[in-house]
Amino acid sequence: MTKKIKILQSLELNGFYKGKIVGGDVCSEFLSICSLIGNPTKHDVNKKIIWDIKAKEKCNLENSTFSQHKDYAYFHTDSQYRENPEKYFGICALTPATDNGGVNQIITLSQIISAILLMKDGKAFLDTLKRIFFPFYVPNEFRLNDENIILKPILTNDEFIRFRFDTILKGFEFTKENQERKNVLNYFKCIVDSINPVLNYKLKKNEYLIIDNHRVLHSRTSFEDDNRHLIRVRMN
Ligand SMILES: [Fe+2]
Repeated sequence: MTKKIKILQSLELNGFYKGKIVGGDVCSEFLSICSLIGNPTKHDVNKKIIWDIKAKEKCNLENSTFSQHKDYAYFHTDSQYRENPEKYFGICALTPATDNGGVNQIITLSQIISAILLMKDGKAFLDTLKRIFFPFYVPNEFRLNDENIILKPILTNDEFIRFRFDTILKGFEFTKENQERKNVLNYFKCIVDSINPVLNYKLKKNEYLIIDNHRVLHSRTSFEDDNRHLIRVRMN
């Protein structure tokens, strides 16, 4: 079985793939592996393809992305502020945190749907998540035009999720908010909180994860080590 098929099968089955780079230049090897799965996209206005995940020395939490700070990064999808978030992304650990933090966790969309369907009126709540448009705040460095929010539902269908709790909260500051959207958002977060992650793992040096960004939510625990350094590639 080729590496590409192995990764694609795991993505289809589990929503993620975990591997390790052995030999060669880690950054270029990682980019090659990501390129097997899709076409790498540009991260920001500077058109970077390999994005450094490294804490900024002085970081304003309000305006920074999860890749720039050390606090807990709650479950989310990447590029949730884009019209079309990338289907996949990969992260590779160049220098893992020396403390116990920086653990990656994953829950799948099928776990979320199952949890919702177990609830009374679960089917109606699923429809609500597809019907209501939430305002996702667009961070400065990823803004492609003047719009500071993008309005999108959390679920598009049973194969696509878009979510990040704090950017929706921030988005509420720019919209005439109604209580229904806030209630639905808080209820959805309670459901996410109730689910046991299928992955709870700290990447070791040169290990990587490829993630289906349309079908899983990922999180990262907080860490202390200023030298923690991962790289990320997103692809379609
Ligand atoms: Fe992320």
